[in-house]
Amino acid sequence: MSRQKIAAGNWKMNLDLEEGLQLARTISHMEIPMDVNVILGIPYVYLKSALDMLLHVPRVDVAAQNCHQAESGAFTGEVSASMLESISCPYVIIGHSERRMYFGEDSKILAEKVDKALEHDLRVIFCCGESLQTRKAGEQNSYVTQQLKESLSHLSQKQMKSIIIAYEPIWAIGTGETASPEQAQEMHLEIRNHLRESFGDEVADQMEILYGGSVKAANAKSIFGQDDVDGGLVGGASLDAEQFQTIIKSFS
Ligand code: 13P
Repeated sequence: MSRQKIAAGNWKMNLDLEEGLQLARTISHMEIPMDVNVILGIPYVYLKSALDMLLHVPRVDVAAQNCHQAESGAFTGEVSASMLESISCPYVIIGHSERRMYFGEDSKILAEKVDKALEHDLRVIFCCGESLQTRKAGEQNSYVTQQLKESLSHLSQKQMKSIIIAYEPIWAIGTGETASPEQAQEMHLEIRNHLRESFGDEVADQMEILYGGSVKAANAKSIFGQDDVDGGLVGGASLDAEQFQTIIKSFS
């Protein structure tokens, strides 16, 4: 089985109901190449409305941006994986650097979130990536593989097939600074080699690894053209229908 090409958008905490559904509607009418899958990371409040709207649209799926690690209980303000399952949400983003940074989500919590999401048949987009300081120290490869070890190494080969990795260097998120295609390829290969060592050839060859960090219409093609880059997780540019359409068409 070959890897999918994935153009994922992460809307983060942007857009209101009307703006969000308008963007989803515009994307639902876009021309999406047969071999590309689009995933939209949508705020909880209009996740269900977007799911209903996109139900019969081929190759466009929806992701939640987070879920809690507990099954249920007294966690005011939180959303569980079972709630996401109950609305048939197919994907969830876990471990985004903004969750790690602003909400104190460490590797142990993220491992629990991954387990809970898989238990509820959600596919996980698991984010990893180093800070500028770590990259300047030349320690990015060991840092990122350590993140993967800490949150994913307990999974079975079968479970790993429900995981998509998103490599998002923190220094490139929302900064306009992008990893060069060579830097992205180098890290993606490092990640794939790590997956190969830990889970074997089949898992390593099948798992999609997305790049995130200031992906734009202007640079998507050169990044997506790298051997081990299977697509992107796009923040800012995914809010702009025209740019996102170009990004969707940036696979060769
Ligand atoms: P930007 O594309 O805005 O840099 O955000 C990337 C990101 O964090 C996607 O999850």
